[in-house]
Amino acid sequence: MILQIVVWLSSILCSAQVFSRPVTCQLQRSRVEKSRGLLHTMGGHFPAECVEQNLQIPFPTSLFANFELQNVGVEKAIYETLKSIDSLFDNESLPKRWSQKELEEFQDIVYLQVEENQCVSNSDFIKLEAILKPYFQKLRAVLEEKEFSSCAWEAVRRELQSTLHFILQNNSQLLWSSSL
Ligand SMILES: *[C@@H]1O[C@H](CO)[C@@H](O)[C@H](O)[C@H]1NC(C)=O
Ligand SMILES: *[C@@H]1O[C@H](CO)[C@@H](O)[C@H](O)[C@H]1NC(C)=O
Repeated sequence: MILQIVVWLSSILCSAQVFSRPVTCQLQRSRVEKSRGLLHTMGGHFPAECVEQNLQIPFPTSLFANFELQNVGVEKAIYETLKSIDSLFDNESLPKRWSQKELEEFQDIVYLQVEENQCVSNSDFIKLEAILKPYFQKLRAVLEEKEFSSCAWEAVRRELQSTLHFILQNNSQLLWSSSL
């Protein structure tokens, strides 16, 4: 009997969860902060042996300028950036040196933000892609050129840390959804 109640209760909870989650665009600042934190702690400081991989691939900050011209919102730009990070990190060749627990947490939290939101329409996507795609293509090119070496990944990790840092700084006044 108790087991039946438990099963019954959990099925109610389950369906309540499914139905009470409308898909909207409500990014949470705390999650972006957490993502940036994990990206740092999973591997610590940039390793000295990788200094030769000291590349500079500047994030296209123009993404956050002239929104009126592009007619695309800030949240959409952040969403699309997270989506590109999600697909970049969907790869088997990630360094074993990194804390695998924190790496997984990072992948999960980035994936959740993409999965639980729906920010970008087709026409937004075309505008955002024009700006973001070259940046992520360069990051991919570094990985491919170095055959997914751990130093190449370290360079990408460092770039993305500063990207998330920029996003958080640049949008500090933006009122993101505060619920966890
Ligand atoms: C990693 O990503 C690259 C570039 O997108 C892709 O070519 C490669 O097949 C991926 N490797 C794995 C093991 O997922
Ligand atoms: C955000 O970045 C854009 C592009 O660099 C810049 O024009 C804008 O002034 C920045 N906003 C803030 C609040 O830092």
